[in-house]
Amino acid sequence: MKFTAPFHTALALLIAGCASSQPHSAKERYFEVHVKPVLEGNCLRCHSGPAAPAGLNLADRKGVLKRSSRTGRPFVIPGDPDCSLLVAAISRKGTHPKVMPRLEVSLTEDQIGDLSEWIEDGA
Ligand code: HEC
Repeated sequence: MKFTAPFHTALALLIAGCASSQPHSAKERYFEVHVKPVLEGNCLRCHSGPAAPAGLNLADRKGVLKRSSRTGRPFVIPGDPDCSLLVAAISRKGTHPKVMPRLEVSLTEDQIGDLSEWIEDGA
């Protein structure tokens, strides 16, 4: 009986440890499922490599956190999709004149929502 309390404390710590690592892998899963395919399917053909337009290389996270070579605004502000240039560029309702991707098709509301949520969640 004497060991019950410490055991429970240890168990609680263990569970707390799991809980705090959970959001990270959940975020990674969200990126893999909802963000990466959208970027790969719609953006990377132009926005990758050293000569990517506007200096935006969407192939890695560092590139996403840079500033536009055209406007000096950051492409992605983790936690703030509304101020992120990337969101402005892909949504038709933004004040930004340019709509990405530059194809006949633009992203669906769902895809735009998924990308916004990803940024809101820390990118
Ligand atoms: C067909 C090529 C092409 C594709 C596909 C494309 N872009 Fe672009 N993107 C460009 C070019 C070229 C520019 C340079 C700005 C301009 O003159 O429009 C640009 C600029 C941008 C900018 C910066 C805008 C600014 O004001 O600095 C963002 C953000 C952006 N693209 C995001 C995206 C995203 C997100 C996707 C995918 C959903 C995408 N682009 C797909 C060609 C492309």
